[in-house]
Amino acid sequence: MDCCSISIFMTHLSNYGNDRLGLYTFVHLASFIRSWTNLKLHTLPPLQLAHKYFQLFPEQRNPLWQNPCDDKRHKDIWSKEKTCDRLPKFMVIGPQKTGTTALYLFLLMHPSISSNFPSPKTYEEVQFFNTNNYHKGIDWYMEFFPVPSNVSTDFLFEKSANYFPSEESPRRAAALLPKAKIITLLINPSDRAYSWYQHQRAHEDHAALRFTFYDVISARQGAPAELRSLQNRCLLPGLYSSHLDRWLTYYPANQVMIIDGHQLRTDPAAVMDEVQKFLGVTPHFNYSQALTFDPQKGFWCQLLEGGKTKCLGKSKGRKYPPMEPEAHAYLSRYYREHNVELSKLLHRLGQPLPSWLREELQKITLASINQG
Ligand code: A3P
Repeated sequence: MDCCSISIFMTHLSNYGNDRLGLYTFVHLASFIRSWTNLKLHTLPPLQLAHKYFQLFPEQRNPLWQNPCDDKRHKDIWSKEKTCDRLPKFMVIGPQKTGTTALYLFLLMHPSISSNFPSPKTYEEVQFFNTNNYHKGIDWYMEFFPVPSNVSTDFLFEKSANYFPSEESPRRAAALLPKAKIITLLINPSDRAYSWYQHQRAHEDHAALRFTFYDVISARQGAPAELRSLQNRCLLPGLYSSHLDRWLTYYPANQVMIIDGHQLRTDPAAVMDEVQKFLGVTPHFNYSQALTFDPQKGFWCQLLEGGKTKCLGKSKGRKYPPMEPEAHAYLSRYYREHNVELSKLLHRLGQPLPSWLREELQKITLASINQG
């Protein structure tokens, strides 16, 4: 017989970090096999061996990182310089264009809350769980966070607005941060789609400049690939109930907070009071005193000493023409079922319906009365 089985021994796992016995056993096992059996041992250089391994076990190509400190055996052999305190206690997961940057800024005003260091590529967002950054490992992730001065009272967090619609993020996040609290913001998905389209135009996205908003949302199957791709990125994050369902498969409902993004825009102090309660963060920070409405910007901003304001930059709260009624009607229909599902989900969670959702549901009722 030619060959029959391949065993791959990993001698460099962190479990063996301080475990000389592992290597000793391995070397002696190899010499035993050579001396006492007629099996032939072969090996390959590390890279080829890795390829071979993943050919045999393709399901292991995607790692799922867990918190090393959750297992005492891991913790005991971990380097003294390492800590698991450099991980977020909560995350703002998006979706994009719902007011995530305003929430981020307001959170940072709290004396006990700090965020990650900025990334050279994605600025304030780490974008770990939803991208290939995940494959860079948890050391890469933890490097983004400061060591908290007081582990129990300091709250580290990160905001990555693309976590919300990402397939992979909830499972990955829950594996590493099972105790984390999750904050999501929802606005009317039609408004979100339109704001996102305007955002893409402002960033000179080729397809967004070329096609009207109506072209984008109503593109059909045979449409050009760049238009279809833009359409997906524009519309899919607004399928709120499916995305929330996925997060709620991995996180218990009491760890998930759903904020009405329209309320954050009009009454941020009330929302920030709720957020503080949800997080259990102390001391209580008075946002009614710390925020002020800036009539020029048309938004709530941070009040600085001397009466000046610090508002979000030009890219937030852009001026653009209102959505055309045709696009509005199209999107109301497009999101109808999903909005109904969302209302059921919020009902199940015992959460109030945001005003925009109540309005959308009323439209559905009116339409069915008119049809009847
Ligand atoms: P527009 O620019 O379309 O008005 P995100 O930060 O998630 O990308 O969301 C951007 C949106 O946040 C803006 O969309 C704006 O409407 C909303 N927003 C809510 N509160 C804001 C604030 N205090 N300052 C600026 N924008 C705010």
